[in-house]
Amino acid sequence: MKSITIGSMQWRYQEQGTGDPIVFVHGFPLDHRIWTEQLAGLSDRFRVIAVDLKGFGASHSTEAFTIDSMADELAEFIRAAAGGRCTLAGLSMGGYVAFSLAVRHPELLKGLAIVCSKAEADTQQGKEGRQKMAELAMKEGSKPVAQQMLPRMFAPGTYTSRPDLVEKLTQIMEGCPPTTIANACFAMRDRADRTPDLPNLAMPVAIILGEQDAIIPAEMGQKMAAACKQGSFYLIRNAGHLAPMEEPASFNEVMAKFASA
Ligand code: MLT
Repeated sequence: MKSITIGSMQWRYQEQGTGDPIVFVHGFPLDHRIWTEQLAGLSDRFRVIAVDLKGFGASHSTEAFTIDSMADELAEFIRAAAGGRCTLAGLSMGGYVAFSLAVRHPELLKGLAIVCSKAEADTQQGKEGRQKMAELAMKEGSKPVAQQMLPRMFAPGTYTSRPDLVEKLTQIMEGCPPTTIANACFAMRDRADRTPDLPNLAMPVAIILGEQDAIIPAEMGQKMAAACKQGSFYLIRNAGHLAPMEEPASFNEVMAKFASA
């Protein structure tokens, strides 16, 4: 794994290949290992960078953050590690960070791929759920949080056909530090609604959803893409909330087309 220190933060990331950079940002409570098939499948044409956000994976930190502060720090990382402009792909929570970065640092983005994510903020009920999840993590650790989330992460068929993926995801989620889970819950709870920003995004935007995502409905993705000046919408068949892991060949084909345009 590579590492780069910016200020007090040591970023850890995987990098493979040469060419135009694509930076992949994981969801919650995950890390760069969800992008294994993108590192393997896209690095023959692109410089693929899969980063661990602050507090996740090997980028150790207990410091609190907001989605916007995370986006500002990720912008610094992109300048230092990717050398400037890149295609940025963010999955779910990574998509919230990517939306914020696209608004705050548009000059860094050749294109924005929002993967299994949404522009809207949390509902009131969602915000209450974040509080409960943060408390659960701090009282009982990461395992019950992982068990609570696991049934909604994959398409139904993935649970039976890919026990290896289920095992891998469980390990990643259970390994996420409780403090990071709590910090991320509060950051996601307090994030801005990015819907009003969609028409103002100057870069091409790809909205990529899993057809069977239990968290983000397909109609929401279609609406987001239609609201962008240069939006396109892609649905990955037989995939749930973790489409890049579940259907890497279809996902990589979409990503390669988008990043080459
Ligand atoms: C994720 O996968 O990052 C989470 O589902 C995001 C969220 O809880 O809003």
